Amino acid sequence: MRTTQPKTIRLSEYTVPAHLVDTVDLRFELFDDGARIHSTLSVRRNPESADAAAPVTLDGDSLKLERVALNGEDLAAENYEETGEQLVIASVPDRFELTVVTWIEPQNNTRLEGLYKSSGMFCTQCEAEGFRCITYFPDRPDVMARYRTRIEADKASCPVLLSNGNAVERGDLENGRHFVTWEDPFPKPSYLFGLVAGDLVEQRDTFTTGSGRDIDLRIYVEPRNAEKCDHALASLKRAMRWDEENYGREYDLDIFMIVAVDDFNMGAMENKGLNIFNSSCVLASQDTATDLAFERIESIVAHEYFHNWSGNRVTCRDWFQLSLKEGFTVFRDSTFSADMGSPTVKRIEDATLLRTAQFAEDAGPMAHPVRPAAYMEISNFYTLTIYEKGAEVVRMIHTLLGPELFRKGSDLYFERHDGQAVTTDDFVKAMEDASGRDLSQFRLWYEQAGTPELMVSDSHDPEQGIYRLTIEQRIPDTPGQTDKKPQHIPFALGLLGPDGEALPLMQDGSADAEGAPVEQVLELTEARHTFEFHGLPSKPVPSLLRHFSAPVRVIYPWSRDQLVFLMSHDPDGFNRWDAGQRLAVDVIQSLVGAAEGAEIEPRLVEAYRALLGDSTLDQALVAKMLQLPSEAYLIELADSPDVAAIHHAREQVLQHLATSLREELIACYHRNSEAGKYELTPESIARRSLRNTALSWLLVINDETGRDLAVQQFRDADNMTDRMGALRALVNSDYAAERSAALEEFYKHFQDDPQVVEQWFSVQASSDRAGQLPQINALLEHSAFDWKNPNKIRSVVGVFAGQNLAAFHNPDGSGYAFLADQVCRLDDSNPQIAARLVTPLTRWKKFAPAYGSLMRESLERIRDKSGLSADLYEVVHKSLGS
Ligand code: TRP
Ligand code: ZN
Repeated sequence: MRTTQPKTIRLSEYTVPAHLVDTVDLRFELFDDGARIHSTLSVRRNPESADAAAPVTLDGDSLKLERVALNGEDLAAENYEETGEQLVIASVPDRFELTVVTWIEPQNNTRLEGLYKSSGMFCTQCEAEGFRCITYFPDRPDVMARYRTRIEADKASCPVLLSNGNAVERGDLENGRHFVTWEDPFPKPSYLFGLVAGDLVEQRDTFTTGSGRDIDLRIYVEPRNAEKCDHALASLKRAMRWDEENYGREYDLDIFMIVAVDDFNMGAMENKGLNIFNSSCVLASQDTATDLAFERIESIVAHEYFHNWSGNRVTCRDWFQLSLKEGFTVFRDSTFSADMGSPTVKRIEDATLLRTAQFAEDAGPMAHPVRPAAYMEISNFYTLTIYEKGAEVVRMIHTLLGPELFRKGSDLYFERHDGQAVTTDDFVKAMEDASGRDLSQFRLWYEQAGTPELMVSDSHDPEQGIYRLTIEQRIPDTPGQTDKKPQHIPFALGLLGPDGEALPLMQDGSADAEGAPVEQVLELTEARHTFEFHGLPSKPVPSLLRHFSAPVRVIYPWSRDQLVFLMSHDPDGFNRWDAGQRLAVDVIQSLVGAAEGAEIEPRLVEAYRALLGDSTLDQALVAKMLQLPSEAYLIELADSPDVAAIHHAREQVLQHLATSLREELIACYHRNSEAGKYELTPESIARRSLRNTALSWLLVINDETGRDLAVQQFRDADNMTDRMGALRALVNSDYAAERSAALEEFYKHFQDDPQVVEQWFSVQASSDRAGQLPQINALLEHSAFDWKNPNKIRSVVGVFAGQNLAAFHNPDGSGYAFLADQVCRLDDSNPQIAARLVTPLTRWKKFAPAYGSLMRESLERIRDKSGLSADLYEVVHKSLGS
């Protein structure tokens, strides 16, 4: 229980470990009422440590210590010290064997860190600092050791016993117990340790590597989920092949295992040879998972697999380097997904997440660089900045170097640092050494927080045929960082002529139009640049920051004519979509606070009409272009947002579009409903997306044809995407009778499937019709709700506060008080989840004072809770500025 401030850990205070561990021998005795862990470490003094007399210091958390022995001799109590968080042994030889026996209670572990129980099975989560909840150990990633793990448990309730590496021995014991011993030949940090014991079934496959080795692939699930593993297995094999072809990386053990667990704080974990997954990120069937879920599973399976090289073989020196593995691995999984589906659509999805959520983080009180300089609780730094912005930073290196030199750089990185724990700087250095490029200014992307703003202006000189583009960069202040230096920004540009033709880019008057490129990556390095383009008799329309070539905000005074023009002519699909978004944002913003009945831009309606009618366009892109900017994005873009007014303006535009385009929507619905077998191709995913968008728009205007189509689709659907599309449309309509009938029927049919029940909770919690506070409270009382299950909490509380924004920001403050109540309640059982859930309140300074002061009051109430966790302490105090 916390009464004082948690300690701040600083990168500048990093020192190498005083002791190294070569081998770890573990013996787990698992029982119903607890677990005993026998650990024997071979320890030696680190020759590189400056402190040659340092005591041995091991980390521990909530452990009951039963025995400590040095070279086999029990230590008397006066020869070691056990503080709350450490075991310290002052006098030790240069090399010794240390034995520690601890007792823990996995069945009572609700934090889901260390060893815990989920639906009757034992499982672990050790990243970042969970291993210390199992045994005393130097729990830091730069201590790498070889592990041997023997698991003993009751044979009937735990027939399956898994850990990292290869199973080397198994046998029966007395009293109906048995054991399996695992050996992992690769040295690894403790955060990559994994263990699972339970009653599971396995689905098997094999993969033959490029060099001809056969790898045994297994997914372990509860028996009821046996039929839901095919997609993950197929995704895994695609990822394994892709990593060989694109990075030259082969798998290194003979067996690769994935386990699905229902209670999990995050998406999945890359434990060496034994990835552990949140069930919702691995299990799928046509009947129970939406297209979005299928895509998510493919990318997460790939992400965890790719960590085998970017994370496990080459790991992080300390947790400030987290983006070394996460940013690079997200970049890798994102490129993989682009290759498996539509690259433009994937880019749109990544940019949307970044601009909506990471930009908001970068502008808020928890803003931090991709390589933070300080933290209190590392769990709070598994953020969009570390993951998604970190991935964008790697992508920019790829853009600056080009694919060949980037590959040379990654080869050098893996070769040079295999088996080591390294820094983001080592990564950049390998890229520099392989390419000969100087990335010293580029390194600022790792050090400076905040989203750079690019102010773009232009002018045209018709006499000389010169177009001038001026770009100024500014990086806003963030907590603890002011007066930032200009960063090195790759800025992809194209220019379009009056008929939409791509113009040659000639930065020099004497250049020849023939050989000139039509797209160029400008490199911004100074606060201000002016670029000149020659041979242009009329003023071109600029296509700025193509493919979202850097994670920045672009500010340019686009006219609506220019945006409509780019929407239909830009050869870069990403920028077509972006122009449509900017037009819609502009139209919605102009209606915020405007008089009722104000005119809605007719060019927007016409642009959407063109999209709906043109089946020659890439339908996956059209499906994306039809999505209006989200409320969250509109709020992020606004200063002192009035959430109710934004919600109302967006709703007006949606209704106006749906009313004006009713015929087109019905036609689009039918055109995309033509019977065909369910397939997971980009084309058929786009078809389902288009028809479900059409349906939802029709129901926004309470159209009876739309209602009938939705009811029919709900009844006849042969897959979850269509069933959920119909349910969502009905839930968000005013047809109250149809809504409750559908919700009830859906629940009755799927009540035994937790992943589907989670979707059922979310669709209600996100709805401005079905997700007002009294209904949210009713969901919390529902028999399927479970305060110990993070997915359930996220699907009700997280979705309400993060997606149902008009209800959450109710001017009476009830949404804020509700969230504060749930966060306080959760902090005692699961502080990691509590600290994540509180995020929406931390942005209080952004909102108009009437909202902001109520948000702050709720935060203060959390701050004053007794026994605040370190996780919540850090987030709440930093956001209150205390
Ligand atoms: N390394 C994991 C990933 O991104 C993240 C993770 C899984 C995690 N579980 C966690 C981080 C628990 C903190 C706490 O693939
Ligand atoms: Zn990861």
